[in-house]
Amino acid sequence: MRIGLLGFGTVGQGVYELTGPRPDMQVVWVLCRRPLSLPDAKVTHDFNDILLDPTVDTVVEAIGGLHPAREYVLAAIRAGKNVVTANKALVATFYDELLPLTLEKGTLLRCTASVGGGIGWLSELERVRRIETVRSVGGIMNGTCNYILDAMTRRGLSYEDALAQTQALGYAEADPTTDVDGIDTWHKLIVSANIAFGVSLDISAIPAAGIRRIRGEDVARFRARGYTCKLISRAQAEEGAYHAYVQPELFPQGAPEAAVPENYNLITLVGSTSGRQSFLGQGAGRYPTAYNVVQDCVDFLSGRGFYCGYGPKVPVTNDRPMRYYVRGGWPRERTRENWDGAAVTEPVPVAQMHRWLKENPEAFIAALPE
Ligand code: HSE
Repeated sequence: MRIGLLGFGTVGQGVYELTGPRPDMQVVWVLCRRPLSLPDAKVTHDFNDILLDPTVDTVVEAIGGLHPAREYVLAAIRAGKNVVTANKALVATFYDELLPLTLEKGTLLRCTASVGGGIGWLSELERVRRIETVRSVGGIMNGTCNYILDAMTRRGLSYEDALAQTQALGYAEADPTTDVDGIDTWHKLIVSANIAFGVSLDISAIPAAGIRRIRGEDVARFRARGYTCKLISRAQAEEGAYHAYVQPELFPQGAPEAAVPENYNLITLVGSTSGRQSFLGQGAGRYPTAYNVVQDCVDFLSGRGFYCGYGPKVPVTNDRPMRYYVRGGWPRERTRENWDGAAVTEPVPVAQMHRWLKENPEAFIAALPE
């Protein structure tokens, strides 16, 4: 396998290192903006050098972001090259373009590292689908948010100090608002749910609430009541209706989610026969992510392409009621409990609560367990 590697940042460098000693694959081109010299690969600023090299059979996209990643990946597929990407924003946003094109061209496309870093999550979903129906997927999918919430809960750090640590450790996205506003988790949920259910969810109806507004006082209220706050994604398929959302949720001590430390992810599926299966691992970082990129390249060697076929576009209904902790602006007449100055709401449909939050962006919400 002759690889054209797009990007030489955290993930790209990891891919270069992990493929280096392998006899079955070789990085022959690296697309990189900054000056770089490598002993065994040509370095270019021009993507066309890679696109027009007929000896390159595989493009590994590790530049991130939507553009020019979309244009490069679409051009590579049109040129008949196989593509591995770790870019969840790309796959989630352009699912309806990428998947039909790769199926039409008969090329291979995989993105295992885009969800769960080093966890074999999407590849396991593919295996699960061979036997049974997936009823739900979700969990802790963002290492940065988990690190921040864990540091605030167990080490008493401020939100700002914890966020600075995730940036120093290389977990956060280039723009960390993507992590803390729940957008990174949202992308990962969309990719996971589309593959799990074999559909293309209406992403405009999937809301995301993040952790940007959480304060030490919220964490103190949760701790006093035995709860731990986590940023959670959920997607469920129930009798032809789909639910999908991202939001902070509270877990009692003893729940597996409550114990997830640092940058770890805990992602769960419920299968129609196998029941609940959870996957724990490092969801961010150079080597865990590069590991799954190389796994995808190995899968290409045995002809494995995308995890599922291209399914129908389906609407998302988030009408299930949940009770929420709300700090800031929740109406008194819809409050059931008072937690030292913060409200616990009556049951509110998920979609309705997220609409309210859009109109009250200074508030912080966290769903309570059922
Ligand atoms: N910023 C992401 C995270 C990186 O913290 O989980 C891995 O996708």
